[in-house]
Amino acid sequence: MCGIVGYIGHREAYPIVIKGLKRLEYRGYDSAGIVLYDGKDLKLSKTKGKVSDLEEKSSKEISTNGTIGMGHTRWATHGVPNDVNSHPHLSNSGNLAIIHNGIIENYEPLKKELINRGYTFKSDTDTEVLVNLIEDVQKKDNLKLGKAVQIALNQVIGAYAICVFDKQKPDEIVVARLGSPLAIGIGKDEFFIASDATPFIEYTSNAIYLEDEEMAIVRLHKPLKIRKIKDDSLVDPYIQELQMNLEQIEKGGYDHFMMKEIYEQPNVIKDTYRGRLHANEGLIRMAGIEDNIDKFTNAKRIVIIACGTSWHAGLVAEYIFEEFARIPVEVEYASEFRYRNPIINKDDVIIAISQSGETADTLAAIKLAKENGAFVFGVCNVVGSSISRETHAGAYTHAGPEIGVASTKAFTTQITVLTMIALRLAKAKGTLSNSDFHRYLQELEIIPEKVAEALKTNDKAKEIAAVFKDATNFLYLGRGYNFPVALEGALKLKEISYIHAEGYPAAEMKHGPIALIDEQMPVVVIAPKQGHYDKVVSNIQEIKSRSGKIIAIVTKGDTQVRDLADYVIEIPDAADAMSPLLTTIPLQLLSYHIAVMRECNVDQPRNLAKSVTVE
Ligand code: M6R
Repeated sequence: MCGIVGYIGHREAYPIVIKGLKRLEYRGYDSAGIVLYDGKDLKLSKTKGKVSDLEEKSSKEISTNGTIGMGHTRWATHGVPNDVNSHPHLSNSGNLAIIHNGIIENYEPLKKELINRGYTFKSDTDTEVLVNLIEDVQKKDNLKLGKAVQIALNQVIGAYAICVFDKQKPDEIVVARLGSPLAIGIGKDEFFIASDATPFIEYTSNAIYLEDEEMAIVRLHKPLKIRKIKDDSLVDPYIQELQMNLEQIEKGGYDHFMMKEIYEQPNVIKDTYRGRLHANEGLIRMAGIEDNIDKFTNAKRIVIIACGTSWHAGLVAEYIFEEFARIPVEVEYASEFRYRNPIINKDDVIIAISQSGETADTLAAIKLAKENGAFVFGVCNVVGSSISRETHAGAYTHAGPEIGVASTKAFTTQITVLTMIALRLAKAKGTLSNSDFHRYLQELEIIPEKVAEALKTNDKAKEIAAVFKDATNFLYLGRGYNFPVALEGALKLKEISYIHAEGYPAAEMKHGPIALIDEQMPVVVIAPKQGHYDKVVSNIQEIKSRSGKIIAIVTKGDTQVRDLADYVIEIPDAADAMSPLLTTIPLQLLSYHIAVMRECNVDQPRNLAKSVTVE
């Protein structure tokens, strides 16, 4: 959570930092701030609210065309979101400025000690403690900033990506990371620092991603040196060429990123399987799987770890892996897995799923699994992310940047990757007949066209949204492959429209949730023809006899459910195992329209952030 941006070079820093913060706003948006160096002094402006609020405030408060600057967009951890708690924070002398993404867990004892030594604090943040700790270390032995940062960080417990600037030495920014991402863009006589590469893609395509426990002194006219924070040893910098372009991170004519990303799904699903799925040749080729095929085929069990929407994709994968490859699968919330002393065996394969590749709980769960000797495979979207580097092998989803906080295309591309893996393993283990294997390859190949067809339900979804936009509760029901889709549909609705929604396996309804059903309760039932259709029809009858309002997602041409439901949305026919890729589309659209009609901030829902880098 939190986005950080820094610039040091020959251009005016202010517009670069502000634009960068706007691109990183998905990471947190409850307050924002900027500090600029005007050649003599630090100019600071910060405010509760969004980057647009900061832009307005700072344009009145500071005017400098200084070429060094740092900015921050915050997702509050310590201290409420207000002006004072916003970053950047200055040290007591006013010489040092810091921006920080992460949490300093031992900030309280450090703060007490600093107070005893005469330091005072304006904010409630852990970050202000860190900048004063650095200043204290620096003053004690008259150290250079880099050394002082290093010594201070060795006293700190927690997670951080930081940029520190000292106005007494205004040709450098010191950066460091542990647990929170930090990228350095390398231009000609200029450097960009950011939580991800989006703030600087129009300036340079060369970037270095710091690894955990690394720091760098980003100094003008000097080659970048990266060191280990613990022992000061030098690390060879690995410069990556960025694959991203500007168009990918702009709205492209849509009102919201979420809608753009929903509509990108036919194309990005193709991107996901391009070069991997060869339906005509009857082949699936994925480097990460081929290199480790024995580990997968010999696995006694697969454990999937993830959070949120990625966890839902994991649940869909559980059904697919067990059916296709006959390997037992368990799906765990990463946050539970990491703290419950799980049994991890050497012949377990762990699959970690994460769009951002930065989710703190998933990252910690991966480390735990590795320590216990398991082989860990990552399914990530963000190239070069922490999880993609921490795992033994992996497969990218190639969905392109997902900026809307509500995950949409990440979900369907994760399912696509996982389906391909399951099919490849089924082939290796001989658990699917040849004809079924070929049929599924062909089905998957034409899924993008069907997703495009499913997107035509937009008007219908909007019409239904207008009817139910003021509902206070929603129930989502599905069975088999579409049970996780029910969970995902409910999550989508609650996170962007703030309507309480619950997903349930349809048959579980009678074990409790049925008590909720009355004429006020909209119930979204996912009832494609290929699933446990008859059983779901019985569940619909049960809802109907209790006067619930039924919104059914059905296969095109369905008549039976149409007679029972209040509203139907038709999607194309598909194999049961592929149906989540289609049934999820109208649910994404429905929640989008409800949120828009309720005037909610669709792309940046309250209290949330795109990348959850704190536990
Ligand atoms: O980046 P990750 O896939 O690891 O993120 C996991 C969850 O935080 C994420 O899916 C979250 O639930 C989304 N906001 C849901 O739309």
